[in-house]
Amino acid sequence: MHASKKIVVTGGAGYIGAHTVVELMNAGYEVVVIDNLVNSDMTLITGIEKITGKKINFHKGDCRDKTFLTNLFRTESIAGVMHFAALKAVGESVQKPLEYHENNISSLITVLQVMREQKVKDFIFSSSCTVYGQPDNIPVDEHAPFKKAESPYGLTKQICEQILEDVYKTGFRIISLRYFNPIGAHPSALIGEMPIGTPNNLVPYITQTAAGWRDKLIVFGNDYNTPDGSCVRDFIHVVDLAEAHVKALAWLQATKTTALYEVFNVGTGNGVSVLQLVNAFIRKTGAKLPFRIGPRRPGDVEKVYANPEKINRMMNWKPRYTPEDALVHAWAWQQKLSR
Ligand code: NAD
Ligand code: UD1
Repeated sequence: MHASKKIVVTGGAGYIGAHTVVELMNAGYEVVVIDNLVNSDMTLITGIEKITGKKINFHKGDCRDKTFLTNLFRTESIAGVMHFAALKAVGESVQKPLEYHENNISSLITVLQVMREQKVKDFIFSSSCTVYGQPDNIPVDEHAPFKKAESPYGLTKQICEQILEDVYKTGFRIISLRYFNPIGAHPSALIGEMPIGTPNNLVPYITQTAAGWRDKLIVFGNDYNTPDGSCVRDFIHVVDLAEAHVKALAWLQATKTTALYEVFNVGTGNGVSVLQLVNAFIRKTGAKLPFRIGPRRPGDVEKVYANPEKINRMMNWKPRYTPEDALVHAWAWQQKLSR
């Protein structure tokens, strides 16, 4: 057993990391947050403190900075690491491929080096369904092969997973969680998604448009081979995703194996179209959402949703929330931001 319940969360000031910090603390873990604030500020940390009533052990620093990490790991007794820190904007990664490769891959390598030196073995990695591209079979399971990456961002996730598959054999215990489309916010509306600039992702674009920050939502394409012609995704509530991390960590800590690498899809198993989500938002919130159909967005896959059987079975994880719940929570968060 691990004497310490202290978990390092890199990228913990960001969207998914912050929600996971809350669930870790609810489950009784002590959390050490590392973030360089390149895509965030202290807003979500303050929100976590309000939700949990506890001060966050936060360290501003970069995951590529080995001295910073080593000092931190020396002063705290760390049981494991959840590694969220990465750059994640697909379009930007096409403009800045070197920055994406350097940040996402160097961060991973540096964190693993420090873990090895400090004898910390348990590691959970933020991967993405983007590693599958457009899979041949849907729902997609973990055995589906990687397709050629659609973007430098997607390639960094594939490369990171391959690195993990190599290094675990030297004594790490590693889980990669392949997220489908995380949406929503904490039901308290104290933390949520805070995209910098114009959002790329669908739900923040929806809520910002309904709040009047944007003129109109463009639905990218209605001529796909799907029931209503718009793309189909597996939208998962961010709190359910956060809980999957806590289950994954508990599973890892309960297993005796000295070296392991496991990959899990984290999705609901239900495909929901973009138009279905847009209509659900209007129906559930009563908000006005001007939208029109526009051309397809280059690089979008037509439809993808998870076969989540492996994580259901091995970790007894199932989502508690529906996409409608997530939309209501995202809207409450947006209204708070708009005030
Ligand atoms: P986010 O940008 O909100 O959070 C990432 C955090 O990492 C940010 O706070 C950023 O400042 C920090 N960061 C980046 N590089 C860093 C570095 N070198 N050192 C320290 N901190 C650094 O993104 P998110 O949506 O919370 O995503 C978290 C993880 O999940 C990422 O790895 C992302 O690729 C992955 N992921 C996200 C989605 C999604 O739809 N949001 C889907 C699949 C996978
Ligand atoms: C994208 C990335 C994925 C990444 C994830 C998290 C691609 C191909 N995939 O997923 O690798 O892990 O973001 O950052 O970019 N949409 C609209 N109008 C909008 C915005 C989106 O119609 O204004 C549609 C898109 O065409 C897509 C769906 O909504 O069909 C979801 O889009 P988005 O939220 O950007 O996520 P993905 O593209 O699925």
